[in-house]
Amino acid sequence: MKLQHLIGVYLLSITAVLGSPSQTPFDITSSDYVPLHPELEARSREILAKYPLIDTHIDLPATMRTIHRRPMDAIPKLNSSHPGHFDLPRAKAGGLAGAFFTANAPCPGGFGRDVGPDFLEPTETVQHVLESIDLVKNTLAYYPALMKAARNAADVREAFSEGKLAVLMGLEGTHGLANSLSTLRMYVELGVRYVTLTHVCHSSFASSNGGGAGTSGSTIPPAHPGNGLTAWGIELVHELNRLGVMVDLSHTSDNTARDAIKASKAPVVWTHSGARTINNHPRNVPDDILRMIGDGPGKNPGIVLSVLFSTFIDPNNATTARVVDHIEHIASIVGKSHVGLGSDFNGISLAVDYMEDVSKWPNMIQELLYRKWTESEIAGIMGGNLLRVMEEVETVQAGLAHLPASPEIYHKRTDLPAHEWGGPNMAYLAPDVQKIVVQQKRLRDEL
Ligand SMILES: *[C@@H]1O[C@H](CO)[C@@H](O)[C@H](O)[C@H]1NC(C)=O
Ligand SMILES: *[C@@H]1O[C@H](CO)[C@@H](O)[C@H](O)[C@H]1NC(C)=O
Repeated sequence: MKLQHLIGVYLLSITAVLGSPSQTPFDITSSDYVPLHPELEARSREILAKYPLIDTHIDLPATMRTIHRRPMDAIPKLNSSHPGHFDLPRAKAGGLAGAFFTANAPCPGGFGRDVGPDFLEPTETVQHVLESIDLVKNTLAYYPALMKAARNAADVREAFSEGKLAVLMGLEGTHGLANSLSTLRMYVELGVRYVTLTHVCHSSFASSNGGGAGTSGSTIPPAHPGNGLTAWGIELVHELNRLGVMVDLSHTSDNTARDAIKASKAPVVWTHSGARTINNHPRNVPDDILRMIGDGPGKNPGIVLSVLFSTFIDPNNATTARVVDHIEHIASIVGKSHVGLGSDFNGISLAVDYMEDVSKWPNMIQELLYRKWTESEIAGIMGGNLLRVMEEVETVQAGLAHLPASPEIYHKRTDLPAHEWGGPNMAYLAPDVQKIVVQQKRLRDEL
């Protein structure tokens, strides 16, 4: 921990003890900006003003829900200061132009829940996801002059030209779908633009690599044959393609990533991962999978957006320069037009030095300039590459527009047909419907 952090924590404790009326205990500001390469600071700010910087992973709703009894009470505070790595003054100071806020529910295991071997035990994940989406939507409604809802690349460009933060949403983990493509389609109507195929738990769709933040980086025991996507997960990927939603492979098992790249008709993304060759952690992408991405025949034209979590980058040397080591290794395989930035702010205990929070993005630009990245390469990693991927995903969607929604349901579900909906003595059912139910029950008993 750096000195300025220690002082910040110290002042915070004093404030909490004295209960200063002018300052809430939440008053953590970011006046601690230290340029990484002072001689390049002016240039870094010029570039940030000229091109949009888009961060594909910020767990803001999770922080709002973690510390507020009424999570919506957090919304007005975002304009002054809010705990964690993100608030609006710091986002502005850092030149952030676009953010994907995460709609998620912690994995059921985190609540001591067991979904069972078939993932059928009920959980509250859908409620948590919907409440997170609601928080983002109400934040947008509160700040019409500062933020703009975005669903596609054109919306992001428009928000940037208006000087507003483009706000998008991603769903982290298909445990949040409760085994249902209908749930997916409704999230998409509400604005979800990517789906991370797993968080740190497996789902009926896909296998996770476990090993998220707070772990030493061990994987979890497989739940599916082959430890990849299930047939049902492949159906999900096709539905995501049809809906124009990005397929996110951060957190997934290596085989899920391989299977999804094969199944997806559109570019795939890693919204917050590094390079496993630079730091051997299962949250980072191995070279053989990176080789499936890029330009050229047979490759998926996707994008790897690099994370800032010290544990994934290098526990012994967690610096912004080290993040760029990850980025340059990834780019050496996939090409510089297939890399981007996805911090995982608010979802990590410690970001790397010089990128401690959202106000520090000029330092990332300075490090890239220091390493002789050209202006157009920097514009690409900041957001241009991601916007291109989003447009390609939209093109695939347009090409699939003639297809109907997938009617598939998870084959292990036991609640459909929903005979129980008929009420006592089938009192809610018309006589012809009653007959069908009786016949179906008889058939089921005979099986
Ligand atoms: C947010 O803060 C800015 C700068 O202090 C101020 O101009 C603006 O009115 C505030 N907006 C809201 C909705 O609080
Ligand atoms: C940390 O990483 C940076 C970037 O690669 C490197 O220049 C520096 O030498 C490393 N420091 C240590 C102590 O390994």
